[in-house]
Parts: sequence; structure tokens; C-alpha cells
Amino acid sequence: MSAVPRQIFPPQPAYDAGTLALEGARVTLRRPTISDAPDVFAGMNDFDVVKNLSRAPWPYTLHDAVTWLEGVENGGPHRGAYPFAIVTGGRQVGTVGISDHGETVELGYWIGRAFWGRGFATEAARLAVGFAFAHLKLEELEAGHFVDNAASGRVLAKLGFIYTRTVARFSKARDCDVDCRMMILPRERFAAVQNDSEGGTDHGG
Ligand SMILES: CC(C)(COP(=O)(O)OP(=O)(O)OC[C@H]1O[C@@H](n2cnc3c(N)ncnc32)[C@H](O)[C@@H]1OP(=O)(O)O)[C@@H](O)C(=O)NCCC(=O)NCCS
Repeated sequence: MSAVPRQIFPPQPAYDAGTLALEGARVTLRRPTISDAPDVFAGMNDFDVVKNLSRAPWPYTLHDAVTWLEGVENGGPHRGAYPFAIVTGGRQVGTVGISDHGETVELGYWIGRAFWGRGFATEAARLAVGFAFAHLKLEELEAGHFVDNAASGRVLAKLGFIYTRTVARFSKARDCDVDCRMMILPRERFAAVQNDSEGGTDHGG
């Protein structure tokens, strides 16, 4: 694991102004707002979503959604994270974010169950990773998925992430440690995979 410089989250004027819109073919990423609370709650009020995240509580309440969104509105990147709402058809269907985890910078995401299997996570994560490499001066990103969450492993593999190791990571919703497959994506590999329609081979693990 290579160390990441500490000045990794320079202010991003477009993000701070709330005017950011990262456009994909089917989804748009924008800064989350408090008005997303009902959609965030609708997606996260599902154990099969929350159990695959490390820090979200279970049960997940509307109050949890409001508290998180207030934190985003008041702090945003200065709290060490760039969260994005994933929007399609005028509806927020999930979130994706880039977060400072101390020694590493991690990608995380979720999609509401009603919207699984349409490629939204892959497209949204690709947009967020592109933002991170373009604006945050990162050389690599890390991500981890619990061993029983093969769909997320597939999303990461499609982006070009490479398996590195398995660690025990605490899941707040499950209230226990769960084996977590850690993966990294070097900047140059992401660029190469974007130009490779065959991209997405999971190496090892
Ligand atoms: C994991 C998750 C983000 C996937 O979202 P999604 O929008 O359905 O993902 P995509 O459609 O972009 O891609 C899913 C891929 O996983 C594959 N997949 C789905 N279920 C699978 C399974 N049980 N085993 C292996 N692959 C699976 C799909 O076939 C697809 O791959 P393909 O494009 O090669 O066919 C979504 O299920 C989710 O939010 N889960 C709960 C929260 C979570 O896991 N967050 C990530 C934490 S690391």
C-alpha cells in the first residue's frame, strides 16, 4: 500500500458552489442536497444495501439520511469526502463518493435495490473515479467489498481495480467484522481500461 500525500483534497470550486454536474450516458452525478433525504432513505432502508457498507447504521432512518445530508451541505470536501448523488430520470437512485481514509483514499457507492442490474453503479463509479483522478491529484484509489458481495467486486473489476489483500473490516449494520477484499486502481490503469472495451478482468484474489 503506497502512502498518499496529505494535501489530497484541495478545495474544488465547482463542487463547493454546488454547480458540479458530471454527465454520463444515463446517470448524472451532482452534489447531494437535503432535498435528497426521502430518496436516500428509500434506498438505504434495506438491509441488503446497508449490510454491504461499513459505516452505515441499521436500522437506517429518515433522520440518518437528514443528518448525513446536513453534514454534506455544511462540510462536504473539507470533512475529507466528495460525495455525489447519482441521478437518473430526475430521481436520486444512489450515492457514490471519494473519501479520505487516512493512508488511502477510497471509493464507495450504493444503488437502491429497484435500480440494480442496469449498469448504474458502474457508470456512476466511473464518473466519480474520473473526477478523483482529474481533480484530486491522486496516483491511486482503493476500494473494498465484503466477500459475500460479488456484485460490487464485479463493478470494481469492470473499472480496472486489482485485488490486493483480504482484511477484516467492521460492518456497523452487521455489528461484526467481515472479510473484505481490498482492491486498488492506479491512475494509469484507469486511463488504459477506459480505452479497452475488454477491460474489467479481476486479477487474483
Ligand atoms: C453492488 C451494487 C452497487 C451494484 O449496483 P448495480 O447498479 O446493480 O451494478 P451494475 O449494474 O453497474 O453492475 C453489476 C455487475 O455485477 C454483476 N452481478 C450482479 N450480481 C452478481 C452476483 N451475485 N455475483 C457476481 N456478479 C454479480 C452484474 O452482472 C454486473 O456485471 P456485468 O455488467 O458484467 O453483467 C448494488 O447491488 C448495491 O448498491 N448493493 C448494496 C450496497 C453495496 O454493495 N455497495 C458497495 C459496497 S463495496
